Amino acid sequence: MTKKQGDNVEVSLRPPSLRDYIGQEKSKKALEVFLKAGIQRGGSIEHLLFYGPPGMGKTTLAHIVARELSSDLKITSGPAIEKAGDLAAILTNLNDNDVLFIDEIHRLPRSVEEALYPVMEDFALDIVLGKGPAARTVRLNVPRIIIIGATTRMALLSAPFRDRFGLVLNLDFYTVDEMAQIIQRSAEILKLPLLPQAAVEIAKRSRKTPRIANRMLKRLRDVQEIHDYASIDVAALERLFDLLDIDSEGLQNIDKKYLHLLITKFNGGPAGLSTIAVSLSEDKQTIEEFVEPYLLQSGFIKKTTKGRVATKKAYDHMGLAHHYAASADASPQQEKNWYNTGYFDCSGGEIGIHAVLRRLCSNAWRFKSSPEHIQIYANLWQY
Ligand code: ADE
Repeated sequence: MTKKQGDNVEVSLRPPSLRDYIGQEKSKKALEVFLKAGIQRGGSIEHLLFYGPPGMGKTTLAHIVARELSSDLKITSGPAIEKAGDLAAILTNLNDNDVLFIDEIHRLPRSVEEALYPVMEDFALDIVLGKGPAARTVRLNVPRIIIIGATTRMALLSAPFRDRFGLVLNLDFYTVDEMAQIIQRSAEILKLPLLPQAAVEIAKRSRKTPRIANRMLKRLRDVQEIHDYASIDVAALERLFDLLDIDSEGLQNIDKKYLHLLITKFNGGPAGLSTIAVSLSEDKQTIEEFVEPYLLQSGFIKKTTKGRVATKKAYDHMGLAHHYAASADASPQQEKNWYNTGYFDCSGGEIGIHAVLRRLCSNAWRFKSSPEHIQIYANLWQY
């Protein structure tokens, strides 16, 4: 299989060592100790599990681990291993101390997961030969490999599987400051004359995700090849953001469609994942794994037991504040959600739900503001 030019650039943007790796301080420290101890003990370490949203650097860390251990890295993914035989084929091509990285490990079939248990514990693979009463199990020795699993869906891994990893690390969204540092580093590698303020601007729009920032930088390099700016400032970036349809908060088309739908069609929620996915003609997994994590983390939506709810920030960002006031048919539950998600501004000095309700009732279109009514609403909404 041939690799595209862009892929090669991606590889070179990866930090080669923990020292060059920016952010994820807690995980980095834990990994540093774990590796040092392993190397001192003779070079081998226990299996590792990385979890967190896509694009946080799980594969990059696997490369770093393999390099620190002077091991070869083999990359595969959960869906690619359909049966125990596929696993056997992979394992027979590995050597002692090699690192096997299994991306999307939550998507391994259960039978393969179970076949992995003896591999992880005893470096042995049990193969079933034959069928029915004549079936028998043969135990094969496999190389003493290190498995690094990566998942965006930790909850989908069974407890026995999780327990077989010696160290479990969570990689989470980066801060804007860390993102700006990563962007500066990548820009230097790509020889882009990016000004610091422009790096911050990209950081703000790249969903706190290095993979997205690096992809933007590559597109910026395309623009740079044509325009040959002496330096890239915020104004020069605007052209790129327009081209890529990325707004000031880093939201893309699908995010904006999601928020627009939640606010206009579902009165701000609560709406269930399946309902939202069907309305957007997307599959649930895409919405849950790729769209919602950033919307949640950035405070545009909240998850409640009854479903997803748009926050004040979402209304404001989408310029749909009037939808709140216009929803004369909003239910008490929706009113309560608006309150819970910060839609009602209680910053005027008075504190407490009665003050908020009084203010709401005096501004709004259909509530009565007598003390008795306010008490009734408070009881109704169970404050
Ligand atoms: N490139 C992608 N992720 C990175 C990180 N965490 N640190 C430095 N460079 C990166």
